[in-house]
Amino acid sequence: GGLALNANASTGSTSTSRDDGLVFDPDAWRKLTTTVTDTQGTEHEVTYHFWKAVTYVSKPVDATYQSLIVSAPVEIDGTAVDASNAPILLANSVGGYMPSSVTDATGVGAGGMGGGGGAPGGSPTGTAAPSASAASNANANTNATGGATSSNQLLALAAGYVVIEPGARGRTLKNSSGEYYGTAPAAIVDLKAAVRYIKSNKGRIPGDVERIVSAGTSAGGALSSLLGASGDSPVYDRLLKEIGAADASDAIFAVGAWCPITDLEHADGAYEWNWGTNTLATGKQVDQAVSKELQSQFAEYQASLKLRGLNGFGALTARNYDEYLVKQYLEPSATTYLAALSDSDRETYLAANTFITWKNGKATFTWADFLTHVGARKKTTPAFDAFDLSTGENNLFGAGTTQNRHFTAYGAKNDTTGLTSKRVASDIPEKLHLMNPMHHLVEKVNGRRSKHWWIRLGTNDTDTSHVISANLAAAAKGLGDEVNHLYYWDQGHGANTDPGDFITWIAEVTG
Ligand code: DHB
Repeated sequence: GGLALNANASTGSTSTSRDDGLVFDPDAWRKLTTTVTDTQGTEHEVTYHFWKAVTYVSKPVDATYQSLIVSAPVEIDGTAVDASNAPILLANSVGGYMPSSVTDATGVGAGGMGGGGGAPGGSPTGTAAPSASAASNANANTNATGGATSSNQLLALAAGYVVIEPGARGRTLKNSSGEYYGTAPAAIVDLKAAVRYIKSNKGRIPGDVERIVSAGTSAGGALSSLLGASGDSPVYDRLLKEIGAADASDAIFAVGAWCPITDLEHADGAYEWNWGTNTLATGKQVDQAVSKELQSQFAEYQASLKLRGLNGFGALTARNYDEYLVKQYLEPSATTYLAALSDSDRETYLAANTFITWKNGKATFTWADFLTHVGARKKTTPAFDAFDLSTGENNLFGAGTTQNRHFTAYGAKNDTTGLTSKRVASDIPEKLHLMNPMHHLVEKVNGRRSKHWWIRLGTNDTDTSHVISANLAAAAKGLGDEVNHLYYWDQGHGANTDPGDFITWIAEVTG
C-alpha cells in the first residue's frame, strides 16, 4: 500500500475555454492501493488514482456536500489497466435523506464508514493502506446501508471501472438564519449537478461519461432511480442554474437501486396495503381505521398507474398485487435461497418454516403466511406523512424555517400539531414531482431516462411497501426498458447480497 503524489499535480489542465471554473484537473491524483476480496473470496491488489473532493458546482450552497471524489484503477493484480474509457459507477452514500459528504474521504468507498466521513481505501499519510477493512467491506453481505454501497464501489474498482462518489445536501441542514437548505429537492438537484460536472469534463475525467451507472441504497436508492428516471428533464433547470451546475446533460445510462424509499406521497397507502395487519414490535396493531382508509387510497392510486406485471401478469391492482408479489418475486426468492443450501440446511430451514411447501425444487406459500413470517412492521401509520410531523420525510418536505411539513392531503387533513391550515402548502405538488421517479415514468414519460434498471429489495424490509420497487420495475419494463429486479430472501433493509452480479450486469449492459 502507500501513497504517491502525482508530480504533475500542480500543472493543472492545459486547454479550456470555460468560465465556470468547473474544470476537472486530470493530473491532480494521488496513487493509492487497496486489497479487494471478490465474491468468490479471491483477493485482488488494486492500484488506483484518487482525486480528493472537488466541488461540482460553481455557486455552491455548501461545498461540504456539493463535492465528489474520483477513483480510477491503473493496475489490478500486477497488470496495468486503462480505465479512461471504462464504465463509471456513480455511487452515492445518501441514507435517510440526510446530508452526505465526501470531503474528508481519503480513498474509494466513502459510504463504507457511515455518513460519508472516512474511507477504507487508502491513507493520506502514506502509511500502509488498511486493506483488511476494504476487503471486509467488499465481502460483507451486510444489512448496513453504507456497507452495501461500499461493496459496489470496491468491486467496481477491482473490475476496472471508474468509481465516482458524490456528496449531496440533505434534509437536516440549516443555515445561521434557521433556514433548511437541504430539504427536497436539494439532493436530486445536487446529484444531477454532479452528473453534469462529469459529462462536461469528458476527456478530462477518467471513464466513459456516456456509460454512467448510478448506485444507491434506501433514500440513496430512491435518488438513484430518480436520477435515472428524470435524466435531462427541464423541470430542474432553474434549480441547477441557481447553484451553478455545468452546462451539460444530466442523463445517465443505468440505475442500480437497493430498497428505494420512493413514491413518498403514495407510500402511506402502499405501506398499509402491505403491512396493515402486521403488528408493531411492541405487539400493538396500528389504528385500523386509518390503515383501511390509506389502503383504499392505495387501491385508487394503483389503478390510476395502469401498470402491467412482468412476464405477462396483466393489470396490477390492489386486489391482485399480493398474488403478483408471491409469484413474481417472493417464491422465486425463497426458491433461490433454499436451492443454494445444503440438503441438511434446507431441511432444517423448512422444519423451522413450515409455511413453505418445497416440491420439485420450488418453494410455494401464501401471502398471509409470508406476512406472518416477516413479523413486526417497522413503522406506525401513516408511515411517511405522520399526523404529528415526526418522520424524516416530514423534514424532507420542510422549507424555509419550517422543519417539518405535511406532503399528503390526508396527512395535512389529520394534522395533530395544531396547524391552522389543513392542506398541503402550495409548493408541495411540484416538489413531489421533482422527487418522484414514478412521475417521470408514468405521468410524464421521459424519453431521456435510463433504459437499464437493477433493483433489489430484502423480503424482510418493512421500511416501505414491497410494491414500491415492484411498481418502479413494472413502470420501467412497461416502457420497454431492461429491468433486473430480485428480492433477497429473509434479508432486511439495506441488504446487497449479490454485488458481484451487479458488477457483471454493468459489464453486460454497457458492453
Ligand atoms: C431510509 C429509511 C427509511 O425508513 C426512510 O423512510 C427513508 C430513508 C434510509 O435508510 O435511507
